Amino acid sequence: MKAASSQPLRAARSKQRSTKPSRPKVIVNFAITWDGKISTRNLTPATFSSKGDKRRLVEIRAQADALLVGKGTLEKDDMPMGLPSEALRQQRVARGQTAYPMRVVLSNSGRIKTSLKIFQRDFSPILIFSTTRMPQALRDELSPRATLHLTAGDAVDLRAMLAELRKTYRVKKLVCEGGAEVFRSLLALDLVDEIYITLCPAIFGGEKAPTLTGLAGAFLPQTISCKLVKMEVADGECFLRYKVVR
Ligand SMILES: NC(=O)c1ccc[n+]([C@@H]2O[C@H](COP(=O)([O-])OP(=O)(O)OC[C@H]3O[C@@H](n4cnc5c(N)ncnc54)[C@H](OP(=O)(O)O)[C@@H]3O)[C@@H](O)[C@H]2O)c1
Repeated sequence: MKAASSQPLRAARSKQRSTKPSRPKVIVNFAITWDGKISTRNLTPATFSSKGDKRRLVEIRAQADALLVGKGTLEKDDMPMGLPSEALRQQRVARGQTAYPMRVVLSNSGRIKTSLKIFQRDFSPILIFSTTRMPQALRDELSPRATLHLTAGDAVDLRAMLAELRKTYRVKKLVCEGGAEVFRSLLALDLVDEIYITLCPAIFGGEKAPTLTGLAGAFLPQTISCKLVKMEVADGECFLRYKVVR
C-alpha cells in the first residue's frame, strides 16, 4: 500500500531532477551611490567603490561560467573581463570549471570597437550576441577573435540567447556586470534571479547620470520585488544580496 502510493511521488521527483533548466541562473552585480546612480553624467567608468568591493567583484566573477556585459559598459569601462587572481583560477579548475569564465557581449547595432581591451586578451572564449545589422567589415574583423551569434531583426532575443548559452555552451551560472540598459531589458523579461548591490557612500546627482535601470524615466513594465538574503558591512560600504521574488 505504502509502496504503491509513493510511486507517483518518486516519478514526479525523478522527472523534476531530469528536467534541465532552460536557461542559466542569472546574477546581476552593481555598485550604486546613495542616490542610486551607477555612473556620472559623463558615464565615467565605475571606479567609485572600495578596493574591497573590487576584490569581491572578482570573487563573484570567479563563480560564473560566463560573464555578460552590454556594449556601453564594455566601451566605457574597457576591461578585458579577466580573473587576475591565480588562486581563484585554481579553485575554478578544481571545481571542474575552465580557468576563466566565458565573456559574452550584447549589442543590437553590432557596432563594437575592435580596439577594446577584451579583444586583445585571449584567455577565454568571447561570444557576441548581436543582429545582422552588424556591418560585414566588422564581422570579418571580429570573427577571428569572437564567436558571432547574429540574428535577423532589430534586437537580440534575450530568452533565446540565454537558452543558447545553457544548451550549447553549458552555462549554468551567468554573472551580468551591467550596464543599466542590459539590466533593464533582463528585468523586463523576468530573467534575473539574484541582484548583488554595493551601496557606496557617494552622491553623484545629475539628471543624465544613469541609475540602475538607466536614465530617470526609463520604463519597466512592472515593479520588481526582492528578498534580502545577505548584508555585509565593510570599508564604509554596505553589500546587499537579494533574491528576486516571483
Ligand atoms: N556601477 C556599476 O556597477 C556599473 C556596472 C556596469 C556599468 N556601469 C556604468 O554604466 C554605464 C553604461 O550604461 P549603459 O546602460 O549605457 O550600458 P550597457 O547596458 O552596458 O550598454 C548599452 C548598450 O548595450 C547594448 N544593449 C543593451 N541592452 C541590450 C539588449 N537587451 N540587447 C542587445 N543589446 C543591448 C546596446 O548596444 P548597441 O547600441 O550597440 O545596440 C546598448 O546601446 C557606464 O558608465 C558604466 O561605467 C556601472
